[in-house]
Parts: sequence; structure tokens; C-alpha cells
Amino acid sequence: MFFERPESGDASVLVHIEFHNGEIQYGSEEFFELAVSAGIDPVAVVKGTRYKPDPKYFVGKGKLEEIKELVEHEDAQLVLFDHALSPSQERNLEAALKCRVLDRTGLILEIFAQRARTHEGKLQVELAQLQHASTRLIRGWTHLERQKGGIGVRGGPGETQLESDRRLLRERIKSIQKRLDKVSAQRDQNRRSRTRSSIPTVSLVGYTNAGKSTLFNRITGADVYAADQLFATLDPTLRKLDLAQIGAIILADTVGFIRQLPHKLVNAFQATLKESSEADLLLHVVDASDENRDDNIVHVNDVLKEIEAEEVPTLLVFNKIDSLDFVKPRIDRNEAGKPYRVWLSAKEGVGIELLKEAISELLAVDVVKETLVLPSNAGRFRAMLFAQGAVTSERYDEQGCAVLDICLPKKDYATILVNAGVEAEKFLHAFRVNNNQIDSWQ
Ligand code: GTP
Repeated sequence: MFFERPESGDASVLVHIEFHNGEIQYGSEEFFELAVSAGIDPVAVVKGTRYKPDPKYFVGKGKLEEIKELVEHEDAQLVLFDHALSPSQERNLEAALKCRVLDRTGLILEIFAQRARTHEGKLQVELAQLQHASTRLIRGWTHLERQKGGIGVRGGPGETQLESDRRLLRERIKSIQKRLDKVSAQRDQNRRSRTRSSIPTVSLVGYTNAGKSTLFNRITGADVYAADQLFATLDPTLRKLDLAQIGAIILADTVGFIRQLPHKLVNAFQATLKESSEADLLLHVVDASDENRDDNIVHVNDVLKEIEAEEVPTLLVFNKIDSLDFVKPRIDRNEAGKPYRVWLSAKEGVGIELLKEAISELLAVDVVKETLVLPSNAGRFRAMLFAQGAVTSERYDEQGCAVLDICLPKKDYATILVNAGVEAEKFLHAFRVNNNQIDSWQ
């Protein structure tokens, strides 16, 4: 493996610098939590302010000295920067501090690597890590420029260590990219067949640690790993769920969003995040007890924009009301009477029925749900309904007619009716239960 992982429990010094450049500043607490959730043991936090990063060491000479003293005093093995460092800054810092240095991107990648559960997630992380490493390899590490012995070494005599490392990286990147393309194609295929069958998809999104997995488990009864760690979920997990009012839906749990998610990571996880942009409804889960909740909402909306999911209808889910005083589960509605926010506690299982009710209401707008009685010569029409995934149950009456409970979007129903060559009004009237059945199928 190419990566030296920080050992769990590694004593590390955290560095968080605020810049006077007009950008919104976030405190160091979130970075502290990120480090802990990676299994790192932060022994000290160094804070400071600057106008702009120092090109060589990112921090100034005085701050560098302060960090160095702390590293020695605390016997730290790692220094974590809450910023993106250039490869040369990282190298210079490692040389000056005589210990490993990891920047924010590296730390997030590390967390992603620890949490990836599906095959695709693991491949995505490895690819992102390799790409991150390759920039560092190419621009630095001159100590690797020495010649390697030629005998029996692939790449032939005269290949330097650096060249062979680069070649290995390139080969590995290529092979992972190929495997990922295959997995993505499979995912697209699955998504297409879901779309064809018209089962609505509801995707859980939200700031990391908001409680998405807990809610997912609570709604579906599934046992998805949930822990008080950031990014407990990396890959979308899909479950089919039956809602009493509207029938089957697919619920997707997705990766937690985070502030300053490095751009290349957003690209790396595009396939995973795509699940959200193609959903019929987003449940934006918010930790209602978090003092930064409004900021987090804005931030999640920014990421949604970035992955082109801002047009998808969204229901806010204010979770963790058990940690708030005097808040009861409820649905908030807009002027048109449509639900836009639900207050609940996933952990306590309070307000879950309200959430299901709100989801059903939002998805049911354009859904046809009824019972049809089809004579035996309506086989083609019956087959079309099945192919659409619209039939929720089927039985036969005494006359041998198929009695079908169907549930599908109105627009898909209209398409089937057109394809079946049936004039909608007449047809619906003719086949609905409790109406007079027609004698033959036209
Ligand atoms: P990521 O995978 O990091 O995106 O996290 P997530 O949004 O899936 O959060 P997760 O479900 O893992 O929950 C994070 C923490 O919040 C866990 O410790 C949960 O037990 C806790 N939690 C979730 N729901 C509630 C709730 O309703 N009340 C309280 N008090 N804690 C909750």
C-alpha cells in the first residue's frame, strides 16, 4: 500500500490559523472533532492569525518555533493543519518539525478511507488518495531520485526510485479508474431500472453527524453503522420501504457533508453524490441542537448546488429534539399547506410517523393509487403495468378478472394509457372498481 496511515491514538498537535481576508472563519472545534473521529489524539491546539499564508512554511517563523516546541514537549508524532498545504509547504514543515505533517485534505481522506464500506466507496477513496499523493510525489521527494539497482527490477536498469514510484502510481490509478467506471456503470444501470419502475427515491442529506444513519435505521429498521463520529457513513445505502399512503419508496443514506470539503473530493465522490441529485425528494437532516445549525444548513445547500441537486424538492428534518427544551414533534407547513419542516428525534423514535406522513404528502402529489379490474383480454395493458412496477398486489375475482392495486405517478400512467391506445377518461371510468366494468377490452 502506498499510504502510511497515522496510527490510531497518534499524539498530534493541531494548527488552526485565521486569516484576515474577509472570509467567514470557523473555529478550531470542528477540526478537533474531525481529528478525534479519525482516531487521532490531539494533545495541543496552536492558534494564530495571519494576513496570508507564508509560502514556505504556511505559518511564520515564530509560530513554527511554537509548534516545534510543543511537538518536542508533548512527544507528538503528527502535526495536523486545518488548511490545504502545498506539497512543498508540507515537505518543508516535515523537515523543520521532524515529524509527519498532514493537511486538511489528507485528514479528510484518511477519515473517508477508514469509513468506506462499499466496494465503490473504497475505490473512490483510494483513487482520491493516489491522486493526492501523486502531486506530492511529482513535485518533491528528491531523496527518491537516486538510481535503483537494475537486476530483476521491473522498469529496467537505470530507473530511479521516484520514476518507478510514479509509474506504479500511474498504473494503480489507471486500474482503479477502470474498475470504478465499471461500478459506476452498474450503479447507473440500477438507477435507470429504478427510474423505469417509477419507485420514488428519497435521499437523506445533511451535515456530518446530523443523525442521518440513525434516522435511516429508525425508518427502515436496518442496521446501518451509526456512531458518534463524523462521517460514519461514506457510501449511500439503499433500502426499499413501504409507506402506507403511497406504496414503495427507495430511501438512500448518503455521505455527510462538511464545510470546506476540498473540491477534488467533491469530484471524487461525484458518483455517490449523484444519488442525491437524481432523487425525487431530499430529506435535509439537521442537528437542531447544534448552535451552528443555521450555518450548517447554508453549507449543505452550497454543496447541493455544487452537485446540481438544488432543484430537487427538499424537506427539512430537524433532528435531536430530545436535546432541546420544550420542543414537541411537529410538521411545519408553508402558506400553501405543504410540509417544509419536521421536528423529531431519530434516537428516541419520536416524530417518525409525522415524517412518513410528510414524505407521503410531498410525493403523493402526482401519484395515482387505485384498484383496477381487468378482463382476461387486457393482458397487454396488465403487462405494461407490471413492467412499470406499478402493481402493488394482484388477485382474481369470480369472473376470472385480474384485480390490481396500482400505485404510480400520474404522468407514467398517462404514458401507459397512450401506449396502450386507450383514451384516458373513458378507460379509467370503465375499469375502476365500483364503476360498471366494460365487457371487453378495446
Ligand atoms: P455522518 O455519517 O458523519 O454523516 O453522520 P450521520 O449524519 O449519519 O449521523 P449518525 O446517525 O451517525 O449520528 C451521529 C450521532 O448523533 C450519534 O452519536 C447518534 O447517536 C446521535 N444522534 C442521532 N440522532 C439523535 C437524536 O435524535 N438525539 C440525540 N440526542 N442524538 C442523536
